[in-house]
Amino acid sequence: MEPILQVKNISKVFPGVKALTDVSIDFYPGEVHTLVGENGAGKSTLIKIISGVYSPTEGSVIYEGKEVEFTNPGQAINAGIAVIHQELSIAKDLTVAENVWLGREIKKKSGFLDKARMNRETQDILDFMKVNLKATEIAGSLNAAQQQMIEIAKVISQNAKVVIMDEPTSSLSEHEIDALFTQVKILKEKNVALIYITHRLKELTMICERVTVLRDGCKVDTMMVGEVTEKQIVNSMVGREMGDYYNKHKHTRGKEMLRVEHLTRKGVFEDINFTAYAGEILGFSGLVGAGRTEVMEAIFGATHIDEGKIFVEGKEVVLDNPSKAIAHNIGLVTEDRRRTGLLLAKNIVENTSLPSLPAHARTLGFVNKAWERKVAKEYMDKLKVKAPDMYTILNTLSGGNQQKVILGKWLAADSNILILDEPTRGIDVNARSEFYALMHDFVENGGAIIMISSEMPEIIGVADRVIVMREGRISGELSEEEINEQSLIGLASITTEAS
Ligand SMILES: Nc1ncnc2c1ncn2[C@@H]1O[C@H](COP(=O)(O)OP(=O)(O)OP(=O)(O)O)[C@@H](O)[C@H]1O
Ligand SMILES: [Mg+2]
Repeated sequence: MEPILQVKNISKVFPGVKALTDVSIDFYPGEVHTLVGENGAGKSTLIKIISGVYSPTEGSVIYEGKEVEFTNPGQAINAGIAVIHQELSIAKDLTVAENVWLGREIKKKSGFLDKARMNRETQDILDFMKVNLKATEIAGSLNAAQQQMIEIAKVISQNAKVVIMDEPTSSLSEHEIDALFTQVKILKEKNVALIYITHRLKELTMICERVTVLRDGCKVDTMMVGEVTEKQIVNSMVGREMGDYYNKHKHTRGKEMLRVEHLTRKGVFEDINFTAYAGEILGFSGLVGAGRTEVMEAIFGATHIDEGKIFVEGKEVVLDNPSKAIAHNIGLVTEDRRRTGLLLAKNIVENTSLPSLPAHARTLGFVNKAWERKVAKEYMDKLKVKAPDMYTILNTLSGGNQQKVILGKWLAADSNILILDEPTRGIDVNARSEFYALMHDFVENGGAIIMISSEMPEIIGVADRVIVMREGRISGELSEEEINEQSLIGLASITTEAS
């Protein structure tokens, strides 16, 4: 079988960073070829070179037997190479259909946009994908998972021969991942070559044929998925033996840190009651869209509540503004880092010190620069943030490394109560194990953690107790001995007799 796409001896140098060194890989039609590697290994850079976002410093891209030099993504799309990037690029005030056809709008003979046809064709694709979305909905009103479906619909509409997906499942729940994999299988049957990036290795055996491991910008090996174990892949990613990375600890519950009573926001969540204790990691499980993020944003004061009470260390508080939550030492790591987590045009130091500034920061009104630097350095080291130095602008960090900076800034902020919304999304196995260790330290030193996670192995591996939400309500609570896949699924799933 002839490869449809080849990269040959590709190197890419950014100022201060060699992102790729002499990488050669062949991609075949009708196959899923996965790229794996730690954060900053060069995966996204490679696919940006293939898709015309960057040009290589050295080496070539050969497509359908001919060398190509795309100088912009439009050329790659026209040639049949479509990409779903790690950071979604949805225009929030356009409809689903307008997003799908953005830049390739269908026009009538008169030259006017053929909205009816774009809506119809989009709806056909959405129905074919079996996703419950309307072509005419405004994209900004959809959650991250639904916005991702727009990107997938777009790729399908482009009839591409090569489809590249950069961590497409990181914001999807299990149910939606199944829907995505159905699409992947259909694309395979159409003889499309898929290039797939993921940090969730169990996905490899579900859909992939080949896997290439990248480490520090170099190709370690390309292997047939059926011929290697997950453990072998992990070891070659990190370059050493990896143990159990959840590293589960037995914690002892301390005093009450956060209690909410009858928290309600009409139409979003209702009658939410729970208590988070010091010395405990409280998991929040459920399907994407169950209302977990909304509850946490409301507690943090980012959105309002209609009813209910919040108590911090036993005292009732009104948190109608994030600055009040921060003043009560509550930190929130949001699920959508591009929207709420980071200042992408600022450097690591500025981002790390952001929430802690009100407390420490000032001597006679000036920002304490030395303190800022010390803290930034400390958390860069602890979380192994890969960047040339602490003045690196966030925009140029790999996705997983941006996420590490968010975690660092809340750890640096002296929070007592940390709310983590899908905190390890896009984080590699090695950094995860570091991060879980930091979480264990945090609660063992008297902090309380609330962790939303849609990854069941993570909830099972890390949480001391789990609350499950379904359709805006708490559907159950599991003590440590009760936490297992079956009970989690049971409480999270929408059953037909309900409602
Ligand atoms: N535009 C840029 N300018 C400078 N450095 C960059 C730029 N884009 C990427 N890099 C650097 O190149 C290296 C590879 O980054 P890349 O985004 O390809 O990693 P990745 O394997 O996709 O990681 P992740 O799993 O975190 O998404 C990183 O060190 C990153 O900081
Ligand atoms: Mg990446």
